Order: sequence, then structure tokens, then C-alpha cells
Amino acid sequence: MRLTILGGGGFRVPLVYGALLGDRAEGRVSHVALYDEDPARLSAMARVLAGQAEAAGLPDAPAVTATTDLDEALRGADFVFSAIRVGGLEGRAADERIALAEGVLGQETVGAGGVAYGLRTVPVARAIARRIARTAPDAWVINFTNPAGLVTEAMAEVLGNRVIGICDSPVGLGRRIARVLGARPEEAWIDYVGLNHLGWVRGLRVAGRDELPRLLADAAALESFEEGRLFGAEWLRSLGAIPNEYLHYYYFNRDTVRAYREAERTRGAFLRDQQRGFYEEAGRPGLAPGAALAAWDRTRAEREATYMAENREAAGAGEREEIDLESGGYERVALALMRAIARDERATLILNVPNGSTLSVLDAEAVIEVPCLVDANGAHPTGVAPLPLHAVGLVTAVKAVEREVLAAAASGSRADAVKAFALHPLVDSVAVARRLVEGYAVAHPGLAHLR
Ligand code: G6P
Ligand code: MN
Repeated sequence: MRLTILGGGGFRVPLVYGALLGDRAEGRVSHVALYDEDPARLSAMARVLAGQAEAAGLPDAPAVTATTDLDEALRGADFVFSAIRVGGLEGRAADERIALAEGVLGQETVGAGGVAYGLRTVPVARAIARRIARTAPDAWVINFTNPAGLVTEAMAEVLGNRVIGICDSPVGLGRRIARVLGARPEEAWIDYVGLNHLGWVRGLRVAGRDELPRLLADAAALESFEEGRLFGAEWLRSLGAIPNEYLHYYYFNRDTVRAYREAERTRGAFLRDQQRGFYEEAGRPGLAPGAALAAWDRTRAEREATYMAENREAAGAGEREEIDLESGGYERVALALMRAIARDERATLILNVPNGSTLSVLDAEAVIEVPCLVDANGAHPTGVAPLPLHAVGLVTAVKAVEREVLAAAASGSRADAVKAFALHPLVDSVAVARRLVEGYAVAHPGLAHLR
């Protein structure tokens, strides 16, 4: 089986390769084709993967090839992972800086930053989808590219249900709740729904019994894990649900904006500098694969430890827990999804797929994040309880913005782009939206037509 990774020089590729090395089952991936625009990043990553294969000591580790030719990478692919970053981390830092200068959030997936990132990513995602449809029409496409829900919806215009979006936040949340409740995550049914980075756990059933009320009743248990510390027991009880961590940007918007403005560097700027150092080191001539792997691991640990640091600071939530620092979410979802499709092994996974008739407040094509039954026919959303009105408000407002982004990316019109920013619940003025469009058009070559 052949897996093609778009954004093959990206930092999280070794997580996926590591998961593949641990997969000993029949019909596993035998060949990984890395595609990236940047040959230097590709060779640095190929070296890290060689370090992983060496450390695993397997005679039959999946073969790795690397190319800057998209069609060559796609030909013969059974699965395509798409994890690209249009504009790189420099672009992410600009998204944050320009939004914060206007006093609004510039996070890569939420608020003005998410709109800007979506505007420049959607045209690229659509072009890639068309190339896949032509060159690898039978491949299943797993989209990691953020903003993941929006980008999946853009690719689904071309690929239909053969593209499935994934994110590790809901899985991590479910795992943390299960752990606090003393349940095994694999035997818990998680009642979760919303959009990507905008969903809520409303129940967690073990052997048919909803255990969430037990958690909501126990303040100490509630504040013993990441989301509980971010939101606080009182607010979680008011909601009667546990929100995805990204809802911290909504429920505590003013506080997170302040924390981000006061930070010495934004997340994007920190990662830009950190990653530059890593790629320089890993690409150094003659560096042994083992040393490249060690550099990657060190960098990864630092990246994990500082994840959402400003939010945690704003909430007084303290450091991340040891157990949340070890990765596992991202690559585990990816591997579980591939296995379920390739081997027709039924699995239930929280994924980003078209709504169908799941949430009555959205149309059938709207990509939502929801538990899905997965088998060789793809991912099918399971039925869930309706959302409460406050959640309907956020979900429909943000989906409306995503639709404006899709339209603006297709039309190239400045008015359409202004509309997308202005309708976002975290952008509080049309005048701000206009200045944001101006700022982003100057900063991003891909958005220069919006001036
Ligand atoms: C979580 C989110 C991903 C996102 C990542 C960002 O895992 O679910 O969508 O890519 O965090 O982490 P970063 O280290 O880039 O801030
Ligand atoms: Mn995510």
C-alpha cells in the first residue's frame, strides 16, 4: 500500500512514519512518498525518517521516497495525506501580528487569523484536489491542513466523500475525560459534535451509561485536566458540556487577545524561529540520521510543552500534564482511519465530513466534526443529539463565514473578503474587517489582488 504525504517536509511527518513503523498488520503501508515544494525540508525529513527506521531495526520498514513533482508523488497512491502550510510559518506569524494590531485574534484557525489563512489556502487546496482527481482518482484523501474543516469542505467540492478531515483535539479531549472518569477511552462512546475547533462533548457513555454528569458534579475532578483548568468548573457546569480547547478563544476572547498581545512573540513567530533552527541542524551536511532524529525529538518536546501557553497563562491553568505531552492523537487517528478503510475494519472516529442530515441547522454539504462509523465505504456520521441554541449560534455563524471564505477565494473579490472577516463573531466591526483585508493583502503575495 502506498501513502503519499503532501507537505512531506513538514515537521509532523515523523509522527505518521512512527505510527506506520508500529503497524505490523497485513496490508500495511509499504511505501511512503513525500512531496514538498522545498527540497531542503524534504531531505531533512527523509533523514529523520531514516533515523526512525534505524532505531526501529525492522528489516521491512516502509520505503521512503521524496520528490518535488506533485504528479510523480500522487501516481499510484492508495492514500494521500495533505498537511501543507501555505505561506509557511512566516505567513502564520503575519496572520497573528496583523490581527493583534487591530485588537482581534489572529490564531491560525480561529477568528481573523483563520479567515486569512483560509483565504490563501483554499485556492491551493482546490488545485491539489483537482490534481488528485486526475492523477490518483481512487485514492482516499486525509486532510490535516488547517483550517481543517474549511479546507476539507473546499476539497470535497472536487473529491466528494473521498476526502476526510482529521484533527487530534477532540480525540485528546475524549481521552482526557475518559481518564478522569476511570474509563478506557476505547470503550467510551463520546457524544461530540460541532465544527473543527468548535465542538462540545455533551456526554460520555460507558456500557450505555452517561458518565459526564458524574464529572460535572465533581469540581476537583473537573479541574484536574487541561480543558477543565482552561474553562473552570463553574463555566463547564453552566454549559453542561466540555468544549473543545479552541473555544477558549471565544468564551474568553478579550483575555486571550490580551495575553497574545502581551506575549513576547506570537505562537507563529516562536515556531518560525524554532523550526528554522531545527531544519538548519537536521540538514547539516554529513549529519547522521540518529542525530537528526534526536534534534527532531527535542524540538517536538519543546513545541508540545508550549502549546496554547498564552491561553493557559490567561486562565492561570499552569503547565501541561506529562501525559498530554506525549503525542499520539494526530498519528493515531490517521492510522486508525487508514486501517478502517483499507481493511474494512469498522471503527468509530471523530472526523470532519459532510453533515448530511446530522445537524438540522446546516445543509448537507457543510463539513462538520462528528463521530463517524468508518469502513471500506468511507466515513458515515453517526446520529447525535441537537446542539443547544448558544452552540447553534456559534456553529452557524462560523459556517457562514467559512462559506464566505470559499466564495471570496473563488471570486478574488475584495468585497467578498471583507464580508468574510466582518461576519466573524470575533471581528467586531466592518471597519476593522476592511483594515484587516488591507493588511493581509500587503503581507501575503497570494492575497495581493485584494488591495
Ligand atoms: C492541535 C490542533 C491542530 C494544530 C496544532 C497546532 O493539535 O488540533 O490543528 O495544528 O494543535 O499546534 P502548534 O504547535 O502548531 O501551535
Ligand atoms: Mn486541529
